Amino acid sequence: MTVQQTPSIAIIVVAAGSGTRLGAGAPKALVALDGRSVLRHALDGVFGARRMQVIVVAPAGHEQSVADELADANRGRGWRASVVTGGETRQQSVAAGLAAVDRGAEIVLVHDAARALTPPAQVEAVAASVTSDAGVIPALAVVDTLKRLDGDVVAAAVDRSTLAAAQTPQGFPRAALDAAYARALDAGEEYTDDAALFAAAGGPVRCITGSERAFKITTPADLQRARMLLGSGNPPLPRIGVGTDVHAFGGEGDLWLAGIEWPGEQPLSGHSDGDAVAHAIVDALLSAAGLGDIGQHFGTAHPEYAGAHADAFLVRTERMLAEAGFAIGSVSVQFQGNRPRFSARRAEAEAALSAALGGASVSVSATTTDGLGFTGRGEGVAVTAVALIVPRT
Ligand code: CTP
Ligand code: MG
Repeated sequence: MTVQQTPSIAIIVVAAGSGTRLGAGAPKALVALDGRSVLRHALDGVFGARRMQVIVVAPAGHEQSVADELADANRGRGWRASVVTGGETRQQSVAAGLAAVDRGAEIVLVHDAARALTPPAQVEAVAASVTSDAGVIPALAVVDTLKRLDGDVVAAAVDRSTLAAAQTPQGFPRAALDAAYARALDAGEEYTDDAALFAAAGGPVRCITGSERAFKITTPADLQRARMLLGSGNPPLPRIGVGTDVHAFGGEGDLWLAGIEWPGEQPLSGHSDGDAVAHAIVDALLSAAGLGDIGQHFGTAHPEYAGAHADAFLVRTERMLAEAGFAIGSVSVQFQGNRPRFSARRAEAEAALSAALGGASVSVSATTTDGLGFTGRGEGVAVTAVALIVPRT
């Protein structure tokens, strides 16, 4: 007869959510975090604890990539591991995982894949603390002062000393958890976590100290916090670029400059509308992103830009930067020339340029050159632009 020394444990890692609040365009568990997926980080935490059966609940349609992640995390370990498809709600996903728990498992842990950086020690501590009659959750003391609201009116203070913020994994005696899930299904009740569902069935739940690292990745700021904790997370440096442009006065029609038309002013000559302010901005942005220069993307080899106005250039440039992973922080432009006089239309020019750049902050200043040089003689204008861009996280 074999005597089992340690209870047999299964862990259900729920990863079937869509990650709406993260808004990364993919299920949250599959979003990249420092070169691996959120799920893979969570699995590393699990596989760093004692041996258990691992069941990952995958988003429908993503079972194969989840299985690949699981196989990778399990390489060289040979733990019992499987993937099941999740449901509409977290509770349904846990229920799907429960159905795959081995008959012999005495303890079941339920863990959010979204708590990607949960330390193995926390998984281990929960596994070690579950008893045959009580569940265990890790939780942290609440640090904020809490208020109860009635609409936007503060109705009452809340004593935070009796409150704790629940984390996962949450561990339960298997038979009682099965019964609690069956009861919730019968009653058609939804709970926000397994401890609430277990407690609603009359099961006692105790609390152990959680970990700051076990926070749930919910919003883009949480993902950035996880990156920082992983050490890759020196916030990505912003980048700057500079661009200049010079155009001579000449040609027919009205002047176009800084994205607006200047009726009655002498036009500037050029392949497009000669808008030296827009062209300097484009060069500054392209250079900040390391994407070459205006001649390469909009030069005479691109006849579609002949006669084009600033917005055509700027909108395209903003899109190129977005595709390369950059958001535009701010742009500062200085115009040198006798005419036109910017002061009366500065705000209008800034608004037009900003609108073409997706709302980025743009400021325009102007100066004359005391009669010196080609700008001072009124032969043309010179513009310098500096752009600051930020890698998107
Ligand atoms: N989860 C799940 N099945 C669902 C909903 C959630 O397995 N139908 C999982 C998530 O994958 C996550 C955990 O439950 O690991 C906690 O849920 P949450 O943080 O709310 O994740 P999402 O539901 O994906 O995010 P959101 O609510 O922003 O859409
Ligand atoms: Mg959710």
